[in-house]
Amino acid sequence: MTNLKYAAAIVLACVCLRANTQIKTQQIKRISPDLFGVFFEDLSYAADGGLYAELIQNRSFEYSPGDRKDWNPLTAWEYTTQGFAYGTISVETTHPINSNNPHYVMLTVEDAGQEGMGLTNSGYDGITIKAGEKYNFSVYIRQLSVAPVPMLVQLRGKKGVVCGSATFSTQVGDWKKYTAVITADQAADSAKLVLLAKTKCKLALDEISLFPQSTFKGETNGLRADLAQAIAGLQPKFMRFPGGCLVHGDGLGNMYRWKNTIGPVEQRIQQRNIWNYHQSVGLGFYEYFRFCEDIGAKPLPVVAAGVSCQNSGGTWRIGGTGQKGLTMTDMPEYIQDVLDLIEYANGPVTSKWGAKRAAAGHPESFHLQYIGIGNEDKQTDTFRERFKMIYNVVKTKHPEITIIGTVGPSPSGEDYDLGWKLADQLAVPVVDEHFYEKPEWFLSNNARYDTYRKSKSQVYIGEYASRGNTLINALSEAAFMTSIERNGDIVRMASYAPLLANQSHTSWNPNLIYFNNKTLAPTVNYYVQQLFSTNQGDSYISNVISFAGDNPKDSTLAASCVKDSKTGDIIFKIVNAGAQPTIARADLSGFTSLNSNATLKVLKGNPKDKNTVNDAGKIVPAISQISTAGLTSYSAPAYSLSVIRIKSKTN
Ligand code: AHR
Repeated sequence: MTNLKYAAAIVLACVCLRANTQIKTQQIKRISPDLFGVFFEDLSYAADGGLYAELIQNRSFEYSPGDRKDWNPLTAWEYTTQGFAYGTISVETTHPINSNNPHYVMLTVEDAGQEGMGLTNSGYDGITIKAGEKYNFSVYIRQLSVAPVPMLVQLRGKKGVVCGSATFSTQVGDWKKYTAVITADQAADSAKLVLLAKTKCKLALDEISLFPQSTFKGETNGLRADLAQAIAGLQPKFMRFPGGCLVHGDGLGNMYRWKNTIGPVEQRIQQRNIWNYHQSVGLGFYEYFRFCEDIGAKPLPVVAAGVSCQNSGGTWRIGGTGQKGLTMTDMPEYIQDVLDLIEYANGPVTSKWGAKRAAAGHPESFHLQYIGIGNEDKQTDTFRERFKMIYNVVKTKHPEITIIGTVGPSPSGEDYDLGWKLADQLAVPVVDEHFYEKPEWFLSNNARYDTYRKSKSQVYIGEYASRGNTLINALSEAAFMTSIERNGDIVRMASYAPLLANQSHTSWNPNLIYFNNKTLAPTVNYYVQQLFSTNQGDSYISNVISFAGDNPKDSTLAASCVKDSKTGDIIFKIVNAGAQPTIARADLSGFTSLNSNATLKVLKGNPKDKNTVNDAGKIVPAISQISTAGLTSYSAPAYSLSVIRIKSKTN
């Protein structure tokens, strides 16, 4: 919806009430239906080794020193010669499955000995196996020797204990996919996958894969169920993907290219991850769109603005001079890629890219509504020229798509000012602001958006976090989020960042959800996000809640009141980031048809406490029922967020 339409919809009702001896006006204004969402970036092993449920690391032997200095095609693999087997192993590229996936292993078994010869994969810090769970194994094999080869695939726990196994047999011939299902008869935390040829033979092997059958919603090439469920539990209204800095990349050659990430996984083009590891792109744009659909989030893909990250090559140390622009010769093809992305998401099955979506199993549109162009780019002439080129074409050819521009990495400063100047010039519908600041900043900037003008671009706060995962961090974000609700006609969307981090591979802190192979820990910040996103109304009502003493200088107190018109429910969020309990007064006299009781969810504790993978439940919301009569004098505990939902009698 445009700003003007929003402006027209803003004042729906006014009720004058007497509160604290002053006449206060309760105004109701519409707020964005897409206010709270998530931002997913493949950072800190969020995708490979995280949300993407593949259990084999380096499944297609494409790791290289370009990903990380000490990596090579056999990283995470061991050559396995047990029981006096012998032969040779080599990594080859002369006859690959396809040219996008050039490396494979050639196994020449001279003598299979007593147990066989092959390869062992250690997964991402070991493979976690659940007893009774079924696992889908697959491998591509090109058999050069003539006689059929009996193969054995096993999951082995500590000391080589076999937790599950399967057998299959291969035939002479070109690349062919072989599959087997392994049922685990016992659990293991750090299992390995062992693949053995049991006779003398010559085999080329590639794309060795193992997925649990119980992925999120049981999808093939799917997502790790518990992590996906934790994201779904936020009920995000949108999901931004695939980054972050990952999008514009470490130099032009590392820019994220969505077309490389679709189609059969063995044909996708993998590349180095800017965060110092490898992207298998098994979690690619098709899977991102499908996940968004599964969790009811609007997809928000971000494409680079034709420039690489200004910090490419680590140049942040010398002022971020690593930004490079695609040549003008390359720009038309790049812009076509962006148009093709829209066609891939929304185009009819008769269109070139819509047909590819249908071929992947999804003839229906993905209903793409938003696209981000650029990620906190340095505002240079190089950037501006390319941004304008992409922006003008997308705007003209796809007026139905809302374009989100970018205004630098900080809440103020040169890139912010220049970014807004460009947004004003081009009337960009929405701009993406980022801020990673201390809790004090979030508390003292509660009024930030009160002075933004509705006539300008709307704001997407695409990345924000208060540099920590303690309760006080989360409460400072909660206080700020009440101001996002209050300005939900100006702030159209907001997402905490980053979302996921494997606790053994964090490239960035803080994050919203930490995990290891076995389990996960939603942070206190996660619960704040969840309490807001699952209690998002569609209109904001001002002047309902006041604090005793009403000291406008006390930045530790913040509150909001929203209404969900679908249910008629009224929701209060009350933040007390201070050390003393404080009375909050709710003026309910303007409301009719409300129940006399309400659900209260409180997040509170020691301001320095946080949830960790080893103590995931330290601070979680406590849920109770209260009488609404008490809300005229609600004691907000020290260091707390209280969310109070009063159901409508008609609901
Ligand atoms: O969220 C982590 C990083 O922070 C993102 O990749 C980047 O956009 C920002 O600098």
